[in-house]
Amino acid sequence: MWTKNEMPDQTGKTVLVTGANSGIGFETALAFYETGAHVVVASRDAAKVEEAIKKMKAVGGSGTLEGEILDLASLNAVNVFADAFTGKHHHLHILVNNAGVMTPPASRTEDGFERQFGVNFLGHFALTGYLYPLLKQTPGARVVTLSSGAHKLVDAIDFENLRFEKSYDANRAYAVSKLADLQFALELQRWFEKTGDPVLSTAAHPGVTQTDLSRHMSEDTLKAALAHFKHLMPAWQGALPTLFAATSPTVKGGDYYGPDGENELVGYPAPAQLSAAARNEAAAKTLWAYAQRVTGLSYPTADSSNGSDRMS
Ligand SMILES: NC(=O)c1ccc[n+]([C@@H]2O[C@H](COP(=O)([O-])OP(=O)(O)OC[C@H]3O[C@@H](n4cnc5c(N)ncnc54)[C@H](OP(=O)(O)O)[C@@H]3O)[C@@H](O)[C@H]2O)c1
Repeated sequence: MWTKNEMPDQTGKTVLVTGANSGIGFETALAFYETGAHVVVASRDAAKVEEAIKKMKAVGGSGTLEGEILDLASLNAVNVFADAFTGKHHHLHILVNNAGVMTPPASRTEDGFERQFGVNFLGHFALTGYLYPLLKQTPGARVVTLSSGAHKLVDAIDFENLRFEKSYDANRAYAVSKLADLQFALELQRWFEKTGDPVLSTAAHPGVTQTDLSRHMSEDTLKAALAHFKHLMPAWQGALPTLFAATSPTVKGGDYYGPDGENELVGYPAPAQLSAAARNEAAAKTLWAYAQRVTGLSYPTADSSNGSDRMS
């Protein structure tokens, strides 16, 4: 039973957590602060950042806290954030791609993408790409990307419907975004192996955890979900698979962790099951090429990876 008491001391590390003002992101950032890291608490709202930092300080930690604004629904905002981050920090030991939105009413990101795909996946794809030079120059760096058991609900990315070309099915779009997160995490690991950059890419999911993620569910849907799942984990417990993936010395690149209970709904960190679609390398490469094209950024290749220039 791995808990955050097993986390190695994080003193000297710089950690960036997206969506750190709430739920699993808050608990993840707090655990890193408690164990000595310099934690960049990223949120899309200044007041929420301030409030989160206040709460973390009230709990106490041996690390340091820095608040930053990051709206993943705007590729330009991600670019501006990454520029400022790179100007300020020489290292990034752990990047936690945590922020997420679930089943909102049909809405687009600034760049015209379905919001869940745009925020949960595309914004993080761009953020990771822009921060790649920092990651690769940081010994022992890791990227943890949050997926969900919901990734198993779909067997492919709807490339023909990412900008509302067809109909909107909120649940399906969430599942697509979480499949994309997982394909991304695994392809990123293959990318690091190909370039020889000494960074690990891992993934995690929090089973069913009580957070604000359900804010867009109707009362009836929420009631039915609660009756179905019976027990939801508190956010500190839902953060454990992320923290394990980010810090355990036993983790390997491409590993995926979730709770160890029945159907991976609740419990303590253990290897989690990937769907066939998540393991589909060809599909992941198609997604990667699509994401590079629509974000306009190119991850460094083995040939270009020797330089430390920021990506265009
Ligand atoms: N809770 C679960 O049972 C569960 C299950 C499977 C997977 N997950 C995954 O776990 C991760 C964390 O979710 P959670 O459960 O902790 O939910 P949460 O409490 O709602 O936290 C989500 C975080 O993402 C942020 N966010 C939303 N849209 C954003 C945007 N455009 N730009 C930047 N940040 C944005 C939210 O900010 P605001 O507060 O400003 O909205 C919030 O900080 C998500 O990736 C989710 O898909 C959760």
